[in-house]
Amino acid sequence: VPLCPFTFVLHGAAGDLAKRKIIPALGHLAATGYFSSDSVLVFAQREALSASECLAEVDAFLARAGDDSARQAIAALKPYFKTVQLSLGGPTAKADLAAALQGCPPLVVHYAALPSSRFTDLLDCLDECRDPERLRLVLEKPLGFNASESAVIEKAVEAKLDESQVYRIDHYLGKQAVQNLLALRLGNRIFEPLLTREHVAHVQITVAEDLGVEDRAGFYEQAGALRDMVQSHMLQLLATVAMEPPVSLEANSLRDEKLKVLRSLRVPKVSSPAEIVVGQYAEGYVRGQPVPAYRHEKGVAEDSNTETYVSFCTEVQTWRWAGVPFLLRTGKRMPKRFAEIVIQFRDVPKPLFEPVGGMWSGNKLIIQLQPDDKLELQLLAKTPGERERLRPVSLDLDFFNTWRIPVRDAYERLLTDILRGRLGLFLRRDEVQAQWHFVDQIMGNLHQLGVSPAPYTSGTFGPPAATAMALRAGAFWSEDGL
Ligand code: BG6
Repeated sequence: VPLCPFTFVLHGAAGDLAKRKIIPALGHLAATGYFSSDSVLVFAQREALSASECLAEVDAFLARAGDDSARQAIAALKPYFKTVQLSLGGPTAKADLAAALQGCPPLVVHYAALPSSRFTDLLDCLDECRDPERLRLVLEKPLGFNASESAVIEKAVEAKLDESQVYRIDHYLGKQAVQNLLALRLGNRIFEPLLTREHVAHVQITVAEDLGVEDRAGFYEQAGALRDMVQSHMLQLLATVAMEPPVSLEANSLRDEKLKVLRSLRVPKVSSPAEIVVGQYAEGYVRGQPVPAYRHEKGVAEDSNTETYVSFCTEVQTWRWAGVPFLLRTGKRMPKRFAEIVIQFRDVPKPLFEPVGGMWSGNKLIIQLQPDDKLELQLLAKTPGERERLRPVSLDLDFFNTWRIPVRDAYERLLTDILRGRLGLFLRRDEVQAQWHFVDQIMGNLHQLGVSPAPYTSGTFGPPAATAMALRAGAFWSEDGL
């Protein structure tokens, strides 16, 4: 169904995120016929660039990144496209923006693909308007670098807009696998009753990246893995797995349930036996290629103590989950890019069969987000022959092979929802606050005890202490045997 006519203003159009993700996603939507002919895309940036110069720059960026499908898609943007030179924070910014929007469709979406320190400058350019059919604001993560910075931004937002106009992005919620997780839990009868402390031994969430900091040192030095990944993506994945079934799929019902989980998280212990491990990548090899240490990356301080890896054990202190370890880890320069949620079930109360290899690995439900969108249920089945022996076998569901439709990028799904006015896949203010509250407490405890990140060789799964930490919670990290 085509979208109603809109004006979409992309702030930070010259930035890395805009070129890598947002502009290609807009291109794919335009190419698929989602845009009505009178819609307008306004790319706002500091430099004075014409529409064709701007598209040529994006095209050159995508050519360097080898993304041919995005290069083809952005050609579809031409009929909708104009640029405006805008110096946010400058004396003429508000007037320049108003002039650029003259005669455009009345529904205006401002997408802030900007560092959060610029959000208030953007808000200064907007007039108070509390009508979601006229004004919507999209804010990229992270919102500030701690709870108090985030509160300052929220205050500025609140002064001009209602909550129903604000789309706080966490692009992980746009990933197909995360929506499948909801469908799996809430559209089927068979798993939900088992997702309790009685049946689940532990839950693991991994988001591993093989990339390093790339050319984002300016941002990353301030952020680190806790603020960059845990505060947003990791906690949202956790909340989606652990929340109670909502009364409906309406945005606030979902957000209410996620919020309860976020508010019931136990802060990991920092001192012995520590429930948190922080690390920083040293030089090594990733997929056979030598890579430098984090401290030798461009823009990184030689004595930087920014963590590029974190793993920790927490608990959702509710009747459903109390006592079940939730193990989370994320890091850069791991051996490969993969992201998954593993729900490890308890063993049967009295084993009657003989396990092959002398070890039980029990039942697992694996929801893989990356590199492929897959669901795997691990069961124990009897091996052929006379002996009563069990061995793990997998039931696999690969979503691409099932539907035979290419998986859409998370940003395409999220942009469609923004333009249709659907808030369900975006964060509410109180969720972001609860996430910051959790991460601020961890950061504060690490700081107080003077914990600095342990080096780990690039191309490994982080410092060895992470394995010991998981073992104390009765778990092995999945894929550690690589
Ligand atoms: C971003 C982080 O939000 O997510 C990046 O700022 C990270 O540091 C990226 O690389 C990972 O996203 P994806 O979709 O590639 O897993």
